[in-house]
Amino acid sequence: MSEKLWGGRFNGDANDLFLRLGASINVDIKMANEDIEGSIAHATMLSHVGIITEAEKDQIVNGLKEIKEEFNEGKLHFTYQNEDIHMNVETVLTEKIGAVAGKLHTARSRNDQVALDFHLYLKKRLPQILELIRSFQSELVNLADENLETIMPGYTHLQHAQPISFAHYLMAYYEMLDRDYDRFEFNQKHTNMSPIGAAALAGTTFPIDPHFTANELGLDAPYNNSIDAVSDRDFAIEFLSNASILMMHLSRLCEEICLWSSYEFKYVELSDAFSTGSSIMPQKKNPDMCELIRGKTGVVYGHLNALLATMKSLPLAYNKDLQEDKAGVFDTVENIEPILQLMTEMIATMQVNKDRMLQAVEKDFSNATELADYLSAKGLPFRQAHRIAGELVAKCINENCYLQDLSLEQLHNYSDLFEEDIYEDLKPHVAIQRRKSYGSTGFNEVHKQIEKAKEKLKGEMNHEE
Ligand code: ARG
Repeated sequence: MSEKLWGGRFNGDANDLFLRLGASINVDIKMANEDIEGSIAHATMLSHVGIITEAEKDQIVNGLKEIKEEFNEGKLHFTYQNEDIHMNVETVLTEKIGAVAGKLHTARSRNDQVALDFHLYLKKRLPQILELIRSFQSELVNLADENLETIMPGYTHLQHAQPISFAHYLMAYYEMLDRDYDRFEFNQKHTNMSPIGAAALAGTTFPIDPHFTANELGLDAPYNNSIDAVSDRDFAIEFLSNASILMMHLSRLCEEICLWSSYEFKYVELSDAFSTGSSIMPQKKNPDMCELIRGKTGVVYGHLNALLATMKSLPLAYNKDLQEDKAGVFDTVENIEPILQLMTEMIATMQVNKDRMLQAVEKDFSNATELADYLSAKGLPFRQAHRIAGELVAKCINENCYLQDLSLEQLHNYSDLFEEDIYEDLKPHVAIQRRKSYGSTGFNEVHKQIEKAKEKLKGEMNHEE
């Protein structure tokens, strides 16, 4: 007979290389605390409904508590021969308290156990991620507040488009992060569900109380369907999808910071704390951290794709393929937490070169729309106004000057509608100031966006207290 916990029906031992490949202890050791907490709740429920005695429960729970302590002190050695965290913990428990340990696995299976551990793992991490998003958002708002009147070119197609307030740009990222927050917040709904009690897939003949267990663990409710409970990984896919979108946002910002810290732009300079030098070129100051975050974004997308691929043809209910579900989620958690923290510090310490940004819109054509709007506001159909502005830009390019350098006389060759006040409209800060539409770059509008954000962040902090 095989020594394994499931070894009763086996005559021979498993191939050792297969055991090593099949073992998940190196990955699921990260859920050791959750596995033990889940077992304590399960044992408590078993005694609550009279499946095991109070004394047996105490023995099991005390043993589990000891294991948790020893594990967190680094005193336990788990082995691949015991396959995974569940069987490693049960093996240590048996060594500690003897045969009564075997009662713990009544009315459960590793299928609902592993699903429970995974839910508990993510349940613990989501609040931390939500908090980190809020900190990053409030740093964006701080920086926006300091830069309300910092003028820069807004881009489309990476070409100068129209002058904008740098604060407006920063608040665009605030909004993206706000949606990320909402998504991770919603993620809690499907994460805080309890699969324990589904047993292998069909439920159990024992008179368990899964609502009790869920409640012990701070989970909202048991799954309604035991087959779904052990087969569902939507909560993890939602997490990876939310993380992918978050990383996409961070990566876009990182890409811009890389561009802006280049010699050609020089809009920002990163603190030395978030830059690296070159081993050969002494002058280099590289935005490595931003590049790495861009790189890691691809890795997170990969984790999402991997889990979707694992799930797409999986027959109900548990299949061993599901063992591959955790590593990508753990890696994602372990990356997005420090990334959010580092990005918060990075933008807080980033030097903004306001003069350089302003210079970029003083000698360019990002005021061409103002000229077209000017004519159109005086009654010329916008299409005609657009054509005249385009022709004037072409003339300036030929003559190596800018729209504001043209005399009123030269402008009159194109339209009688031009008057002295056109020069005011062509100034970048006036272009911004004149924008009054909701959510626009107008200083007043951006100020409102900032105040609204501050209000929201403050309200939430008070709420949390
Ligand atoms: N290590 C397994 C996993 O991570 C635990 C569940 C094993 N269940 C089974 N029926 N083999 O998925």
